[in-house]
Amino acid sequence: MINMYHIPVMSYEISQFLINKPYGIYVDCTFGGGGHSFYLLNKFKNIKIIAFDWDEDAYNNFFFEKKNDKKRIIFIRDNFKNIEKSLAALKINKVNGIFADVGVSSKQFNDLSRGFSFNSNTLDMRMDQRVKINAMDVVNSYSSKDLANIFYQYGEEYKSRQIANAIVIYRKKRKISTAIQLRSIICSVKKYDTKKINPSTKVFQALRIFINDELNNLEILLSTIPRLLNTKARVVIMTFHSLEDRIVKNNFKQNFTNGIYKLLTKKVVTATQKEKINNPKSRSAKIRAVENNV
Ligand SMILES: C[S@@+](CC[C@H](N)C(=O)[O-])C[C@H]1O[C@@H](n2cnc3c(N)ncnc32)[C@H](O)[C@@H]1O
Repeated sequence: MINMYHIPVMSYEISQFLINKPYGIYVDCTFGGGGHSFYLLNKFKNIKIIAFDWDEDAYNNFFFEKKNDKKRIIFIRDNFKNIEKSLAALKINKVNGIFADVGVSSKQFNDLSRGFSFNSNTLDMRMDQRVKINAMDVVNSYSSKDLANIFYQYGEEYKSRQIANAIVIYRKKRKISTAIQLRSIICSVKKYDTKKINPSTKVFQALRIFINDELNNLEILLSTIPRLLNTKARVVIMTFHSLEDRIVKNNFKQNFTNGIYKLLTKKVVTATQKEKINNPKSRSAKIRAVENNV
């Protein structure tokens, strides 16, 4: 069940960095299919996990999961940026470790009804179904300038203006309601080069980040975390693209300079060659870890 949902990346490395006290409460900010949570619960019998995921599908998956270790998890269906408030509601002020594996799960990506993949017949891209605006609303109503800014800022797409213009011209004739339509508009501007990444990758990434406010959520989470850590508690964050990694790197560096964190990873940690071969998605994963000094 879990493997079909999402193959967890670098579980061993995450456990090595995260668990220095094999007891107490840990937080999984991004439960997904629960691969990391159940790996840790199975390995460390005296820990408990508070798990966050804002996706209804992840919640339903957890709900139907049949595992003994489930008794040691509390699932909170909320944005991890609200971690402090949610933990306080459970009367938890401090924890022994916090980790996050940010981005979308394979389940979200592969489910064509969610609109994350280029082959989707929809254009939604919301990880949390309660979010008001979706990708279809954005591509059909935002100005060419705003679309170009999104593609450039969150996708580092160098043809952002041309693609935004092509979208505006297309939608005058027909509403854009599928990822397939959007992909063909992008491909009319950017030619397919087999040596490079798919021409649509950057625009799709940008829209997804924008719709889900991913960078802002990560910034808020990172700025909240220091208030929630016991002495020597650990923080481990895994990211999959440079915009997120930069945010984590800068936050850890700043808290190191302020004397709050000790850096456990001087450089990013990546998956082993074996894992990269077995699970190609792990190729772009990067881990950074710190320990609370105070
Ligand atoms: C890469 S998957 C995590 C996979 C998980 N580690 C596993 O082993 O199955 C990321 C998950 O985080 C969730 N997520 C992303 N941003 C979130 C946020 N701001 N708040 C709560 N959940 C979030 C997504 O819905 C998704 O299910």
